[in-house]
Amino acid sequence: MIYFCQTMKKMLITGATNGIGAAAIRQLKDTEVHPILLARSEKKAQEILREIGRGDYYVCDLSDTMSVLQAAQEIISKETTIDYFIANAGVIGYKDTRKTGEGVEMTMQVNFLSHALLVEQLLPVFEKSGTVLAFTSSMLHRSYWLANYDFSTSLNATKHSQFKSYSRSKAAICTYAMWLAKNEKIRVHLLDPGVAATGITRSREDWMDKAMNSVGFLFSKPESSARTILRLIQDEKYKRLSGIYLTKNRDKSPDKRAMETTNQRSLLDQIKKHLPAV
Ligand SMILES: NC(=O)c1ccc[n+]([C@@H]2O[C@H](COP(=O)([O-])OP(=O)(O)OC[C@H]3O[C@@H](n4cnc5c(N)ncnc54)[C@H](OP(=O)(O)O)[C@@H]3O)[C@@H](O)[C@H]2O)c1
Repeated sequence: MIYFCQTMKKMLITGATNGIGAAAIRQLKDTEVHPILLARSEKKAQEILREIGRGDYYVCDLSDTMSVLQAAQEIISKETTIDYFIANAGVIGYKDTRKTGEGVEMTMQVNFLSHALLVEQLLPVFEKSGTVLAFTSSMLHRSYWLANYDFSTSLNATKHSQFKSYSRSKAAICTYAMWLAKNEKIRVHLLDPGVAATGITRSREDWMDKAMNSVGFLFSKPESSARTILRLIQDEKYKRLSGIYLTKNRDKSPDKRAMETTNQRSLLDQIKKHLPAV
């Protein structure tokens, strides 16, 4: 651990070693927030924490269920309270169709299922702490919904569209968050950082990544998109209210299908099928 003051708020965060998450960590420098990173790269976690002179990290690869479970156990044994949990890590697909050891399509696993597993494991700590949880979504959550196709088949399909997979992973995040927001012991929100020039396309190694490299300068900087995370921790209203869809500058609602109880129930059934110990 690098320096911790008792009055500081603890913020557990995934995806803070690059892009929007890393920009948010840098912006915490002059705040009373102590970041705790869940990162697959120990070296990258140490580097970013060194920049602001404080913080902790746990190694956690979101593409590997065992790694997620192990990280959750370590957190439970060491952290008594957590003030914020930011589920920010994400990928927009890979150059090939990729699955986990359990046969789950990788974009859905990294973006959604592993975060759901973390929440299920850490819920007692969150409920005890009255944690404010936020899940990074995207405007693309409205593009390809979970309905009209079998979630289980899609997760295990050999052929799938990377873009649709990304979109559906974000629809799943919104639906899950809106269900979780009914829990009165915690507060749950969604973050939409807008389009930013980050490393999000690098795992695809295709035309989209080339486009990001050549016209990325037209998009916002990650520092600007990180404002959604800063807004969440700086405005007291997000501790009182639940179920808000934050953009950089204003509050909105997610797609109304995320609020429908039947969609939430069907998603929870799918989670139970694909995750251990939930
Ligand atoms: N950029 C945009 O235009 C945009 C728009 C809407 C929403 N978003 C969302 O914003 C979030 C952050 O994305 P970004 O644009 O900042 O992308 P990024 O620069 O690629 O950062 C992604 C972060 O996720 C981590 N990550 C990826 N796979 C992981 C795994 N298997 N295990 C653990 N961590 C993993 C990365 O870790 P490494 O450093 O180890 O690679 C990195 O810290 C994502 O949820 C994304 O969907 C982005």
